[in-house]
Amino acid sequence: MILDGSQADAIARAADALAAGELVGLPTETVYGLAADADNAAAVAAIYRAKGRPEDHPLIVHVASATDVARFATTVPAFAQRLMAACWPGPLTLILPRRAGVAERAAGGQPTIGLRCPAHPVARDLLAACAARGVHGLAAPSANRFGRVSPTTAAHVAAEFGDALLVLDGGPCPIGIESAIVDATRAAPVLLRPGQLGRAALERAAGEPLLADDALLQQAPKASGTLAAHYAPRARLRLMEARELRAALDILGSEARHIAVWSRAPLRSASSALLLRRMPDDAADAARELFAVLRSFDDAGVKLIWVETPPAGADWDGVRDRLERAAAAA
Ligand code: TXA
Ligand code: MG
Repeated sequence: MILDGSQADAIARAADALAAGELVGLPTETVYGLAADADNAAAVAAIYRAKGRPEDHPLIVHVASATDVARFATTVPAFAQRLMAACWPGPLTLILPRRAGVAERAAGGQPTIGLRCPAHPVARDLLAACAARGVHGLAAPSANRFGRVSPTTAAHVAAEFGDALLVLDGGPCPIGIESAIVDATRAAPVLLRPGQLGRAALERAAGEPLLADDALLQQAPKASGTLAAHYAPRARLRLMEARELRAALDILGSEARHIAVWSRAPLRSASSALLLRRMPDDAADAARELFAVLRSFDDAGVKLIWVETPPAGADWDGVRDRLERAAAAA
């Protein structure tokens, strides 16, 4: 059931459900999450079951403010303090050393914990209402089945998990791709996943360079969002340059079927069965649309999704990362 997240009674109902160990669909500025009380092992287990996610893949714990970090983490290096000061509330997750005995199941048994303070007003209202009920952290992975496209509307969440789930509607997510993840458990920060915040912005905020050493990433704890094949639509996704797209559409002509195309370049096809959508020229606009576009192509039943390779600029890091992983799953 979808409730209007701007209504106080909906927030109270969702907070009561979470305090009672139930799951709630939660809007954030990035994507919708499937939330549970981070310290309730049975509720957290229900998230893993609902998503079909392996239990050793840790979940992000959402907190109301930086002052809650000490409940879950032991040490916060100076660069992580600077990142929190600059980027919270907002689309940044920090991996920190976990305090023993807290949120163990949510952390997938790792000695570390992923923490994020979301900026979405509905998420903030819900976290405040939860705190008033003694719940100080919400474990919430993206509200999609394991490996699938993240949801950016309340309707997407209902489509993944059915009507029985209480979902707070906070409108379409303004960012549209998941938070950036920085590992702050080593001497230097390591970028595990770019988001709207890319490497350059994070380095400015951290006041030091970010590592992305592949060897280090191999040793890093399991992170679903860093698997080579992830964020995948049902149809096969392929990244192509504009000229390859033009050539392919010319060759297929009126025969093109079961294909959807998302491109910045204007394209034409002689086939009326082809789905053509324009990718915005602006990276932030493209990020906002990305997952909804992939879902709409799946809903239309296409077999192939051809996407024009995004531009090389740093502001496209997050979109490029998601598209490359979706293509790797094909
Ligand atoms: O924007 C977001 O981050 C969204 C919204 C709902 O906040 N959440 C999200 O969660 O994307 P999820 O579970 O789909 O992706 C979280 C990523 C996963 O790749 C997970 O493995 C990684 O964060 N992660 C969480 N805790 C970790 C830890 N202790 N060490 C390493 N990676 C961790
Ligand atoms: Mg996810």
